[in-house]
Order: sequence, then structure tokens, then C-alpha cells
Amino acid sequence: MRRAARAPGFFHTVRMPSLVPGELPVAGGRERRGRLRRLPLLIAAGLATGAAASVPPRVHAAGPGGDPTGAVPSVVAARADPHSLANLDAFRVRHLDLALDVDFVRQRLSGTVDLEVERLDAAATALVLDSHDLVVREAWWVESGRAVRAVAYSKGAPVPGLGEPLQLAVPPGPAGGRFVVRISYQTSPGAGGLQWLTPAQTAGRVAPFLFSQSQSIYARTWIPLQDSPAVRATFTARVHVPPGLRAVMGASNALATPADGWYRFEMPQPIPSYLMAIAVGRIDYRAIGPRTAVFAEPEVVEAAAREFADTERMIEACERLYGPYRWGRYDLLILPPSFPYGGMENPRLSFVTPTLLAGDRSLVSTIAHELAHSWSGNLVTNARWRDFWLNEGFTTFLERRIVGALYGARRESMEQDLGLQSLRRELGELAPRDQLLAIDLRGRSPEEGVTAVAYEKGRMFLDWVESRLGAAALDRLLREWFEAHAFQSATTEQFREFLLARAEASRPGALDPAQVDEWLYRPGLPAFAVLKTSDVFARVDAQRADWLAGRSGLAQLPASGWSVQEWLHFLDGMPAGLPGARLAELDAQFALNGVRNAEIAFSWLRLAIRAGYEPARPRLEEYLTTIGRRKLIRPLYEELMKSPDGRAFAQAVYAKARPGYHPIAVATLDPIVQGKAAP
Ligand code: BES
Ligand code: ZN
Repeated sequence: MRRAARAPGFFHTVRMPSLVPGELPVAGGRERRGRLRRLPLLIAAGLATGAAASVPPRVHAAGPGGDPTGAVPSVVAARADPHSLANLDAFRVRHLDLALDVDFVRQRLSGTVDLEVERLDAAATALVLDSHDLVVREAWWVESGRAVRAVAYSKGAPVPGLGEPLQLAVPPGPAGGRFVVRISYQTSPGAGGLQWLTPAQTAGRVAPFLFSQSQSIYARTWIPLQDSPAVRATFTARVHVPPGLRAVMGASNALATPADGWYRFEMPQPIPSYLMAIAVGRIDYRAIGPRTAVFAEPEVVEAAAREFADTERMIEACERLYGPYRWGRYDLLILPPSFPYGGMENPRLSFVTPTLLAGDRSLVSTIAHELAHSWSGNLVTNARWRDFWLNEGFTTFLERRIVGALYGARRESMEQDLGLQSLRRELGELAPRDQLLAIDLRGRSPEEGVTAVAYEKGRMFLDWVESRLGAAALDRLLREWFEAHAFQSATTEQFREFLLARAEASRPGALDPAQVDEWLYRPGLPAFAVLKTSDVFARVDAQRADWLAGRSGLAQLPASGWSVQEWLHFLDGMPAGLPGARLAELDAQFALNGVRNAEIAFSWLRLAIRAGYEPARPRLEEYLTTIGRRKLIRPLYEELMKSPDGRAFAQAVYAKARPGYHPIAVATLDPIVQGKAAP
């Protein structure tokens, strides 16, 4: 793997922490600021059209390698990835070298990125990158690690949802050749991919915290790069943090505290941009296995180490099924509660919500899920967001296999059933075009593809293949798929071809291509879908029915022996319109307002809102103001907004909670609670 060459001692000439706009990160007075001119805005494109129009630059800028002819070729007419403004056909970023200072006072990252770029198109003289709300200060042509001359650059007009294309003038050169450009930049306080937390928003309440969330298209809010899952790059990074804080990245993490405050990272395997990840805070760690540790604030690190003690066994189970774990270490970072997701599969270091810390390992399927992405997603990556189900459907399938291997078939069946129920609920609300596995997201946000369709319909497609080929044959096929496409991106169509060819070889006639296409390209669930129905919840169903019909009292329910999954099923299956008095009975018997398990509390609170059960309000307010995980709060706000009284309550609570929510959660909730899109 080639890297950007870097002269030793670079950091002696570049004092990153002191950089301010106008100061140049270059050695030896070679800066040619006087000759640097900005190109005019080159690109105006609409998310709605999904195509970038390009205007050739009219400026004769001081491009590297002499004066450009002015004939910059069209940037991109029809983009391979409708969610990137980069000209992926002409250039590929192969390696990044970051040097960033973390400034909690100004809430910004600032520094440089060196991009090592492979040229695909000999004639191309404009390198177009994705950027979103970045402040670019300078751009340089780099040779042997030294900035040798200024590169002319310009920012195009903002494209709603996609950011501003950043265009750099580069000289033509042979296809296959590589060059390095350095961009000096800083982030904006409102960067969508970063959340800056005050001390009060952390467990320890003494130090601030920063974390990134790059999926799907937020890496461009903290690094200028080609922000497409079709592009993979290796990276190295240096991150400077204030005394007493630790920086971690989805990369190799050194445990020693550097005396100079500069943490160093290396990611030798090429990864897509949406897996770029960083966090900074008062972060401690505990080893929990030979290649596994938890990173967390000191206040929660012990609890996390206990909760996730099975992680090494999960890795081994997945390796037995799908081949070796290819990333070296697998660590977990427990974030503060505003983390908007259950988990995020950042390579070598999954980011997870503290709402998994239930005390009884009952919610660890999310760890199985994020770990499984080390094969499905991180090793073989959806080429476009249209192919998101290749990431999430496969991962949900692998997650259930891991859960089955560690916790048995009963637990696996329960999670399958809960997944199917969530899919049924969502299919009832989604437009037909959103019910396809290969979803057309052109002109839309990739977020619109994040539904149970990708996760559970995708998983059910593989269940169906399994019913046709046999479990062992499907596991073998998946293992071969991961091996054949390791460290590559793949499309739905590539998987379709692979699947049909392998199936034909192992069991001729077993898969009907028309049925495969129905799974991929038609809405809803095919009539021939196999529903792995089980009777794991039959007892709970009967017990709920008995209580509802007055045939038994709550004291007779064997609830103390229920698993968390049985509790969820018990509560989720309650009928609409259950009177408040019956909820009072439940609450009196089981102290549901005091339940700390975040999933059970969620099911209870949703039920309480539906029933208008007022005594749950204080707990609901506490829940909504202390948890920022979108899956657990969005449905509660949605439910509240259905009644005038609930609406007033939701708006009052939201006003208090909103400053603590992540920008991604705010963007989702503003339209729901305030009835308007986020600014
Ligand atoms: N990669 C996803 C999270 C994600 C998806 C972030 C799309 C941004 C855009 C992660 O692996 C995931 O699926 N998380 C789930 C948990 C899982 C157990 C279903 C979540 O956060 O709920
Ligand atoms: Zn996932």
C-alpha cells in the first residue's frame, strides 16, 4: 500500500495548535500566497436533479505545474454516486493523512489533510471533493511531504443536503499516476457529523466530549474528501487534544498518553469515508479479551466491561461462520447518552449507546450487530446508498446467527419475531417505492433508506435463500462473497449475479431469478417469503390475553422469569385504547415507571402515551431529556403529537431537550415536534 510520503520532522515546522486562518502550514517560506487566486464558483447542482452541472473556470490560476489551459473538462455529468459531488470518474483518493487540533472553546477541528490521489483520467485538471460547511484556508501541492506551491481552489454553490463541491486545479498527468495535495481547513461549529458536548452532558460532568458520526454523508463536514462508499482509502492521523483528554479513532489506538498531546493513529486497511471516526473526552479503557477492550468515561467503564464481556466469543462465533476477523483489534467506545444511534460500526472501534448498559447483558445483540459489520459493510461495502440493504440486511442476518450461537435458538427466535413485527409496522406506513431492497434514493437523503426494509426485509431475503439452499450452503456462499469482495464495494446487481451463479452451481434450479428479483425490486413481502415463525412468544401472548380478558390477575403472571424480549413482546402487544386504569394496575404490580432497562422503558412509555396515562409523564420527561438515541425517542414524540395535550407536553419537553440532542436527531425531530424542517 503506497502512502503519502512525508518528510520526518513535518510537525516541527507546523505548529498546528496555533494555526489561525492566514497562517500557512508550510515549511521554508515557499508559500506563494500572492499568486493564489480563487476560482469562480464552478458547480451548481441540485439534489433534486441528482446531476451536477459544471461550468469551466475562466480564471488562469496558478495551478501546479504551470499555467492551466483554462480548459478544465466537465466535472461530472452523471455521477456514479448521486450523494457525492466529487468527480469519482477522474480521480480516486487512496490515502489521507490528517493533522487536526481539537478546540473545545471554539468547537472546531482545525488543521490539514494530505490527500494522496490516483489519477484515472489523464486529461482531468479539476479535482472535485465533497465538503460541507468546511472553512478552507489554503491548498497546496505536496512533494516529498513538503508543500511546494499553492493550488488554486474554489468552492461551488451549496447543493441542498450534499454540501459544497470543493474544486482544486491540478495539472494533467498520466492515468495511474499519483499526487498529493494538502488542504488546510477548519470545521464549523454546526458541523452535522460532529457533536460537541458540554461537561454537563457527560457521565463525569467535568470535561467536554466530542464525537463524530460520519454515516451516511457527514464525513464531508469534518474532512474534505471523496465522500462516497464506492471509494476506499487508508489513513494516518495526528490529533492534538487538551491536557487530560484522550483522542480515539476507528483505527489503531495507542493506549499511552502522549506527552505532547498529539495522539497518532493508523488505519492500514482501506475504508470508505463513512467509517471515518473520532472521539475525544475523558476516556478510560478496560481490556475485556485478548483483542478487545471497552473505552468509556471512567464512571461507566467497569459496567461496560461487565456488560460486553461476551464480545470475544461473538468474534469467534462470527469467524467460524464467515472467515477470519480482518481488522486486528475489536474495541468498543461507549458514548454519552446523546449518541443518536444504538451503535455505529466504526472499524476496530464500534461506537455504542450507553442505553445498552442494562446490567444483565440483555441488549448485547447490538454489539453482535456492529461486530458483524466487520464482514458485511466494512469488508464488503454498499457501493451506493441504494445498496444499503447489502450492509444492513446482511448484518442483521449475521447478528441473529451470532445471537443464536451464543445465547441459543430461543433467544434468536425472539429477536427474529421482534424484527418481523417492526417490519410489519413499518411496511404499513411506507410508500411502495420505499419498500424495495434496492431503493431509488436519487434526489433524496440517504436517511430515507434507513428503515426496517433494509434491515429486516434484507434479512428475510437471506432467510428465504437459506430455505432454498440449506443453512450450511448459504453460510459458505456468504463466506465466499466476503472473501471474493474483501475491501471492495459492491452493488445489489453484483450480489444478484454472484448469488445466482453460486446457487446454480451448488443446487441447480433452487433459486428462481424472477423470485430473487421480486425480493430486490418489488415492494412489500413476497407471497413466497418464509416467515420463520415460532411459538417462542405463545406463552406470553396467552398470558397477556388472560389478563386482558380478566381470566387472571397480574400477580399470577410469571413475569419475574421473563426475558427482556418477552417483556417487550408483552408490552408491544397491548391493544390500542387500553384504559388508563389498566396501566395503573401494571405500574402498581411491576413498577414500570421505575424500570431502567431503556428498551422496556421505551415500550412502557409508548404504551402510556397511547393510553393517556398521566402518571408516566415525569418518567417520560426524564427519558426524553436524558436519552438522545433516535430510535428510542422519535416514536415517543410521534405518539405524543397525536393528541392536543400530548402535543403541548412534547413541545415543552422538546424545548428543554433539544439543545442536548445530536444534529441528526434534531434534523429528524424538528419537523415532527415543531412542524417545520430544521434550518
Ligand atoms: N450503521 C448503522 C447505523 C446507521 C445507519 C447510521 C444509517 C447512519 C445511517 C448501525 O450498524 C445500526 O444499524 N445501528 C442500529 C442498531 C442495530 C442493532 C439495528 C441502531 O442504531 O439502531
Ligand atoms: Zn447496522
